[in-house]
Amino acid sequence: MSGTLKAVRGTRDLLPPETALWNRIEETARRVFARYNFGEIRTPVFEDTSLFARSVGEETDIVSKEMYTWEDRARAASEKSQSLTLRPENTAGVVRAYIEHKLGETGQLQKLYYIGPQFRRERPQKGRYRQFSQIGAEVIGPPSAGSESPLRDAEVLEMLATLLDELGIGGWTLHINSVGSAADRARYNEILRAALADVAPKMCVDCQRRAVTNPLRVLDCKVPEDQPYIDALPKMADSLDEESKAHFAAVMAALDAAGVSYTRNHRLVRGLDYYTRTTFEFTHGGLGAQNALLGGGRYDGLSEAIGGPKAPGIGFAMGEDRLVLTLEAQQEAKAEKADAYIAPLGEAMNAPALKLARELRRAGLAIELGDGSFRLKKSFETADKTARRIVILGEDELNSGILTVKEFASGEQSKVARTELKRILAMTATA
Ligand code: HAM
Repeated sequence: MSGTLKAVRGTRDLLPPETALWNRIEETARRVFARYNFGEIRTPVFEDTSLFARSVGEETDIVSKEMYTWEDRARAASEKSQSLTLRPENTAGVVRAYIEHKLGETGQLQKLYYIGPQFRRERPQKGRYRQFSQIGAEVIGPPSAGSESPLRDAEVLEMLATLLDELGIGGWTLHINSVGSAADRARYNEILRAALADVAPKMCVDCQRRAVTNPLRVLDCKVPEDQPYIDALPKMADSLDEESKAHFAAVMAALDAAGVSYTRNHRLVRGLDYYTRTTFEFTHGGLGAQNALLGGGRYDGLSEAIGGPKAPGIGFAMGEDRLVLTLEAQQEAKAEKADAYIAPLGEAMNAPALKLARELRRAGLAIELGDGSFRLKKSFETADKTARRIVILGEDELNSGILTVKEFASGEQSKVARTELKRILAMTATA
């Protein structure tokens, strides 16, 4: 067999300097989550297939055609073969863990966040991959802990607005809707089915199919010619019962009070079956067709659907790949350069240069260490690519304790006492 091996379609290698941006995003998320008193949960990357069938829903695109599923053969008589699936999302795994570890018995709200890879066999395009990373969080607990309160929904949305601000992502739009209780949704599905009976034949083939199998999904259609028909369909808001209406009104009132702006989007139904009441997405115009930065909502019946106690919850997941794309487009992904490059003049200076690099690195500076066998011209060229400045260390410098420092951006060259070097490099590093 010949030919070079490549990363599998829909998967990618992430390389520096881009990985620095990924790390910065994750650090910012962890910092913000900590301020809202969330703790981290890490669940396995694969789970029993039935977990996703029972939570995300058998009929959804994710479960019916996008999962990586395999039959895991028994290795011993004591084991059974089992159908396993690489997680396509993490809410199901978190709720499974909540039930398995009896977290409901604490009587407290559980506020859990996660960062990690998810897998869906979708058609790859910009912003859509088969392995992608989500940063998500869930708030879940017994009703006595206040898990059903609309304040929880508003708090999660306010946290997201804060997190996007701190990431430096501007220009997003928050779309919110309420899909009501399971009964409201069933009622609305029938109303839609009836309304679609007349118009569906004039719509795209996907809509014709959905009109029969899952009328709610018609609201997701992006085909331009279908839009007038969809806009004229009955709205979910008119099918909500009084409790769901009041819940949604309270979420919006709390957002108004906190000054978080949003748009009501009657067509926001989301592609996972577990949602009840509040659903939301944050979109960004810079992303193109895959414009959802993140999505989420409330899932009050999910725990019971997978055999657990009553445990209403609300959560979200951000597409980390899409956060990176957005920030790169905003040109905030500047290549991270080291604070300084140390150029030893001659191989005899290698050991003293290592000593100097150690001192500076221990002081928290990012240092590139050159090599005394390089000619000065080569040292300058390498330094210019990897660091903001070059520090020259020859015999004279070593003896006098006065070093030559050149700053590339300004072209300025100066003499700096070795005792002052740390302070100077740190000072200008943050400038
Ligand atoms: P989701 O809308 O399926 O929700 O995914 C959330 C986000 O993950 C999307 O808005 C998008 O940014 C990102 N995403 C999804 N698929 C891909 C892909 N193929 N490539 C790149 N990014 C992608 C959920 O997963 C729910 N578990 C969210 C949630 C948490 N709801 C309640 N709690």
